[in-house]
Amino acid sequence: AVRLRVREALGARETAEAVRVQGWVRSVRSQKEVLFLHINDGSSLESLQVVADPSLEKRDLTFGSAVEVQGKLVKSPHRMQNMELQAETIRVVGPCDIWSFPLKMKERHPLEYVRQFPHLRCRNNTLGALLRIRSEATAGIHSFFQDNGYVHIHTPVITANDCEGAGELFQVEVKAKDSVEKTHFFNVPAFLTVSGQLHLEVMAGAFTHVFTFGPTFRAENSQSRRHLAEFYMVEAELSFTENLQDIMQVMEDLFKTVTSTVLSKCPRDVELFHKYIAPAQKVMHVTGKNCYFSSSCRISYSEAVEILKQAPQTFTFKPEWGCDLQTEHEKYLVKHCGEVPVFVVNYPYDLKPFYMRDNEDGPQHTVAAVDLLVPGIGELCGGSLREERLPFLESRLQRLGLTDTYQWYLDLRKFGSVPHGGFGMGFERYLQYILGVDNIKDVIPFPRFSHSCLL
Ligand code: 4AD
Ligand code: MG
Repeated sequence: AVRLRVREALGARETAEAVRVQGWVRSVRSQKEVLFLHINDGSSLESLQVVADPSLEKRDLTFGSAVEVQGKLVKSPHRMQNMELQAETIRVVGPCDIWSFPLKMKERHPLEYVRQFPHLRCRNNTLGALLRIRSEATAGIHSFFQDNGYVHIHTPVITANDCEGAGELFQVEVKAKDSVEKTHFFNVPAFLTVSGQLHLEVMAGAFTHVFTFGPTFRAENSQSRRHLAEFYMVEAELSFTENLQDIMQVMEDLFKTVTSTVLSKCPRDVELFHKYIAPAQKVMHVTGKNCYFSSSCRISYSEAVEILKQAPQTFTFKPEWGCDLQTEHEKYLVKHCGEVPVFVVNYPYDLKPFYMRDNEDGPQHTVAAVDLLVPGIGELCGGSLREERLPFLESRLQRLGLTDTYQWYLDLRKFGSVPHGGFGMGFERYLQYILGVDNIKDVIPFPRFSHSCLL
């Protein structure tokens, strides 16, 4: 018998005599004349219908059990499906005790419920759909950059640089086998990376356009719906770039290309989110191709502060030039602009890290930074032009007392420095945005430390 995945069986054009399908039972319906099963193997949201003689029913052929079915693949008389499998043999490979199995047949479990079972929730439709989308989006991100001439760089996960306070750090130490003492690994404190940017800047100085897409760590003990301690960040760095607009264009192109890839590769999976998970008002943003960026808005940080000051509502954090934009401010700005993506550019010099390029619009007044804010999420991307001029960088590092630490970074400005810039996009926030998922824990494969089951 030819082994077929469920997706292949469902999409088959021809009937086939001897076919073998393996998967997990999503439903069992036993009638007098016929036994119906639905089998899912993770290759698609849709399950394959199996039609069998009731004599093939066994006690351990239950919801959740793993089975192998052999039989004929035939055209289905049902309008909703193309093919079905007429079973000749059914073998239960791994039984499942339905009484203790936390997922129940034909129930749409809430995300909060399945989050309690991180080791089992991937057997549920919603998480199944999410993980297929995540996989396609990952491939789409790699294709976007590769197709546009970027070189993929594996930036280090353990590093001594902290990207100038991009986030709280996890420190990495060595514990010898029979010792309780912990020591530094490289003779200096080492951390889990908070951003691959500085490493990418090194590589942009040779390959012109580079990107990285890997795990990123921030030790913020936040229970927020948009923060994780371990998340994936997509980062790009472009040499010979003098304009912030060029960076914004890459953000937008990346977003549009990846989103249309996802929509075309797994339309049914995305549809599930838009139908059952996303809040109603979200759906208007997500129908049709490329609609998320059909319009966007661009304002300066100074304009943003003025808009916030004139807002008819009061904020917990009073908007003031020089202060960071809080989530409540981001939400208001997005609403003010008509619930479209908003680029906020040119932030106060003192608010941003040393590597951002001075706009020279006053003594150390603003830098060429850009944040992309999107409806329902807030900040999705952050980027900037980098300070490529040695004297500017030298004096800023000196004031911060960081000259020694960043000698290597200063070197980059001595040996063939060029105007350059880049950005980072939070991958989980991207998924939350396109799917309308409220809690960031529901777009990762394994929610961490949320309960007693520590994977
Ligand atoms: O704005 P951030 O901190 O930017 C950087 O680290 C730059 N060095 C990136 C660069 O220019 N190459 O982080 C970038 C994005 C944020 O906009 C946000 O989407 C996401 O990463 N992010 C998080 N996502 C989930 N959980 C967290 N704790 C996050 N912190 C940042
Ligand atoms: Mg940021």
